[in-house]
Amino acid sequence: MRISVFGLGHVGRALLASFQRVRVPGGGRARLVLAADGRGAYLGEDLDPARVTARKLERDYDRPRADRDAAALLAEARPDVHVELTPTDLETGAPALGDVRAALEARIPVVTAAKSHQRSREVLSGVLELAKERGVPFLDHASTLAGIPATEMVAGIGFELRSVEGVLNGTTNYILKRLAEGAAFDQARDEAVEKGFAERNWRYDLEGMDVAVKLVGLVRHLTGVVIGAEEVELRGDAELGLERGIVGASPELIARLAEEGQVLKLFGQVEIAGGAVRAAVGPRAVPASDPFAAVEGFHNAVRLEGVMNDSPMELFLRGPGAGADETASRVLGNLNHLIEVLSWRHEA
Ligand SMILES: NC(=O)c1ccc[n+]([C@@H]2O[C@H](COP(=O)([O-])OP(=O)(O)OC[C@H]3O[C@@H](n4cnc5c(N)ncnc54)[C@H](OP(=O)(O)O)[C@@H]3O)[C@@H](O)[C@H]2O)c1
Repeated sequence: MRISVFGLGHVGRALLASFQRVRVPGGGRARLVLAADGRGAYLGEDLDPARVTARKLERDYDRPRADRDAAALLAEARPDVHVELTPTDLETGAPALGDVRAALEARIPVVTAAKSHQRSREVLSGVLELAKERGVPFLDHASTLAGIPATEMVAGIGFELRSVEGVLNGTTNYILKRLAEGAAFDQARDEAVEKGFAERNWRYDLEGMDVAVKLVGLVRHLTGVVIGAEEVELRGDAELGLERGIVGASPELIARLAEEGQVLKLFGQVEIAGGAVRAAVGPRAVPASDPFAAVEGFHNAVRLEGVMNDSPMELFLRGPGAGADETASRVLGNLNHLIEVLSWRHEA
């Protein structure tokens, strides 16, 4: 089983550190045949993942990358599965979107944690159509909620889903906690940017666009409906004095809510009725005893509600919504699952 990996950053290197746990049924072995970051590439019949990581850190490459050479590299290495872990850019989609399309064009199944293909309904539909037309699997579960396998869970549920809601953004968890400790909004926001938690364009996290992109992934995998991030409503709360997302929250607001036994969180919310889906992101105060109130740091939590015949059903899932090892764990799980399915196909 030949594997290629584009993107040797936090997640890519975490995956390579556990590459020996890529499982091939029937006693086969996974071999790394291509690895690349933005500067250079490694090619070989059985690359040593640890050596690739060590050389990457020294910027010592087999060859430099050329402009738009993804298709040529893939053609040369002939991987059975391609893993795309390059940066997400929702403005341009590059480089992940072009790489993913190049792999699918070449009928190479893809596993990815990048989110660029979810930047609009049009782009997402284009990628899904390409995968379908070429007849190759495209597994992007790790793009949604990092270490929490919420979207794979659909294989284990048959009930009619009515709603999905969740606390899905670690940066806002961090800032709201700092406000509870008395920090001013601007101070907490600047700290989050400095520590690398928040994007430089902090509005992306704090107004709810990051959560909107996560809802796109949840909705598609859990309901089969394709929506674009631009269709998710980004709300504020006039009563709480919040213009959009948690922008405008203050230590005074958090303290007042605490006196009332409430905690402020940024929620993603999806309602499903008669095949129609409505998705929104906005702030909400919940009782301190609510399980969502305790979701802090990079943890995310999601609640699925629905019915099976006459029985109401509810599932609550909580876990790491970010982190290199955590995301790589999901990528590895998806990779192993895909290899298992591909092995059945080969045997059939
Ligand atoms: N980290 C998380 O918690 C998390 C969670 C969920 C999803 N994700 C997604 O997973 C992906 C990887 O995240 P990360 O944290 O590992 O990012 P990262 O640390 O920024 O690493 C990105 C890697 O991609 C490389 N790269 C840039 N342009 C490239 C190109 N054209 N071709 C090949 N490689 C290229 C970078 O090269 P250089 O080393 O030369 O800069 C770097 O090695 C992102 O799309 C992110 O949104 C991450």
